[in-house]
Amino acid sequence: MSKLVAVTGGIGSGKTEVCKCFTALGVPVVDLDQIAHEMSAPGSAAMHAVRATFGDEMFEADGRLNRARLRELVFAEPDALDQLNQIMHPAIRAEAMRQIERNSAHDYVVLAIPLLVESRDDWHSVDHVLVVDCDEQTQLTRVVQRSQLSETMAQAMISAQSSREERLTIADSVITNDQTLDKLQEKVLEFHKNFSKTCQ
Ligand SMILES: Nc1ncnc2c1ncn2[C@@H]1O[C@H](COP(=O)(O)OP(=O)(O)O)[C@@H](O)[C@H]1O
Ligand SMILES: [Mg+2]
Repeated sequence: MSKLVAVTGGIGSGKTEVCKCFTALGVPVVDLDQIAHEMSAPGSAAMHAVRATFGDEMFEADGRLNRARLRELVFAEPDALDQLNQIMHPAIRAEAMRQIERNSAHDYVVLAIPLLVESRDDWHSVDHVLVVDCDEQTQLTRVVQRSQLSETMAQAMISAQSSREERLTIADSVITNDQTLDKLQEKVLEFHKNFSKTCQ
């Protein structure tokens, strides 16, 4: 059975970039965001449940989820967020477990999990927590550049997540991503070499 390394970090910290580095090193990456995204494809069981709970107005005429509208709703209404989580979380977790088991021949598997602080109870089976860290201003700049979000919305999303300090408290290792992507790659390689040794 492979070990499980959780990669977490705030929005825009560089989790996806770190995961690309692991993939390049041949380490399997199971990405909860990606699984969630795939589950919002029209016709999935999760989307039937979302439609039944939140109504047709969350969907386009062609059946696609209107992500922006759903995001606004769950931002404004904590109860709606709870309901959405109750639909999505068990399904996402089950798919993640399937993917982890499929890769059990590897020394370790990376689990990219944006909100680990918030969902620690679901993931106590994690062997090592790797936090990708950068300062809040860098996060903000990256989020605004990457998406069409306004600075206000980006700041709201950062503030809605657990704090930098809370994340660092649960870290077994930290990768500081405040330099170039080449430098980030070097740091991931160093982690990989060290962690692989502990798997022998
Ligand atoms: N060290 C870096 N140098 C330049 N751009 C970066 C760096 N790290 C991340 N980025 C860019 O910032 C954005 C957010 O990074 P990403 O890995 O998607 O963050 P996360 O997955 O944690 O939200 C992306 O557009 C990414 O390419
Ligand atoms: Mg990402």
